[in-house]
Amino acid sequence: MKQEYFSIQDGIYYVGVNDRKKPLFENMWPLPYGVSYNSYLIVDDDKVALIDTVDVAFFEQFMKKIHSIIGDRKIDYLIINHMEPDHSGSLKLFHEFYPDITIVGNRLTLGMIKGYYGVTGNNIQVTDGYTIDLGHHNLHFYLTPMVHWPETMMTFDEQTGALFSGDAFGAFGTLNGGFIDTKIDTSYFNDEMTRYYACIVGKYGTPVQNALKKVKDLGIKYICSTHGPVWTGSNVTEVIGNYDRMSRYDTGNGVVIVYGSMYGHTEEMAEVIAAELAAKGISPVKIYDISHTHVSYILRDVFNYKGLIIGSPTYSGQIYPGIEALLSKLSIREIKNHYVGLFSSYTWASAALRRMIAWAKETNMELIDGSVEMKQAMDESEEEKAIQLADRMAEKLLNS
Ligand code: FEO
Repeated sequence: MKQEYFSIQDGIYYVGVNDRKKPLFENMWPLPYGVSYNSYLIVDDDKVALIDTVDVAFFEQFMKKIHSIIGDRKIDYLIINHMEPDHSGSLKLFHEFYPDITIVGNRLTLGMIKGYYGVTGNNIQVTDGYTIDLGHHNLHFYLTPMVHWPETMMTFDEQTGALFSGDAFGAFGTLNGGFIDTKIDTSYFNDEMTRYYACIVGKYGTPVQNALKKVKDLGIKYICSTHGPVWTGSNVTEVIGNYDRMSRYDTGNGVVIVYGSMYGHTEEMAEVIAAELAAKGISPVKIYDISHTHVSYILRDVFNYKGLIIGSPTYSGQIYPGIEALLSKLSIREIKNHYVGLFSSYTWASAALRRMIAWAKETNMELIDGSVEMKQAMDESEEEKAIQLADRMAEKLLNS
């Protein structure tokens, strides 16, 4: 392909790839729009630097792009911002093509390179604030541990204002035709950035806040993440704001209702709660059947809305398995600044509600009084209790 297709600005090129085949990211998270693995090449008068590689399945395509830009010119530096194999997977093969290259990473990065790939050789071990001059471009390194792994760092190019941010500000979804936000259809990236954050980075709110403090005032003009579009113009402020919001668990006043239901009784109670919330002016009310919606979409909406109401029948003396798995994922993400309400059902022995209450008390969410439990089918008194639970949730949200 023509070199000009890949140009971002002033010697910076996009050399990433699109994956439209992988069904599940990390073998867990659905990819309805695919995913991109982004890598960037900086071609300067004195030196050439590559920032991150790509999934090894795309090595050949990746190398073709690089060669179409620099031909046989040598690459001086391979900067590794993040070691997860969706980005570092081509490192070993790449090193065989460029054995004299200098690998740039921090102490943890270099250890992981040896551990994963057995690659050693020329390297520069950077610390926070370290710089490398390519001639025209002056690169600054900022350690941003746990966004998303402990070795994660970001690279800032002073010349162009390009921030190579690793997974931060990334989104699921392939880049179709181009890679700069102004030149492609970005309609699915807003939801897919939130879903990416909720699934991949959502546990690390405090590290994200620490990272934002380091980089937000650098004068960023381009955000070059490892997944999704290159963000420019007002989108830079917008995606930084979005990350700031999500990492503070700052959400809107909607409610996510999620339930498990084998024969429709728990679902019926979910409908009652939803109708009362809507009647009280709460919007949106999002209802998910745990058996029919992948948990990643539910987690996404938990990072969008402050209210969460969870319903489970008792199943073999436990919480319904899909709901149990959801609770675990919510705990891992240390969800804060949320209200949580609970409802449950059982046929002969109650267990799910007691277990869910014990779970809720261990979280940082505020448990709404009046958890509801019904035996077998819902009667009038249980329906009234479900309405009261919805009213209490609405009151909390409307007064918060
Ligand atoms: Fe896209 Fe944490 O790797």
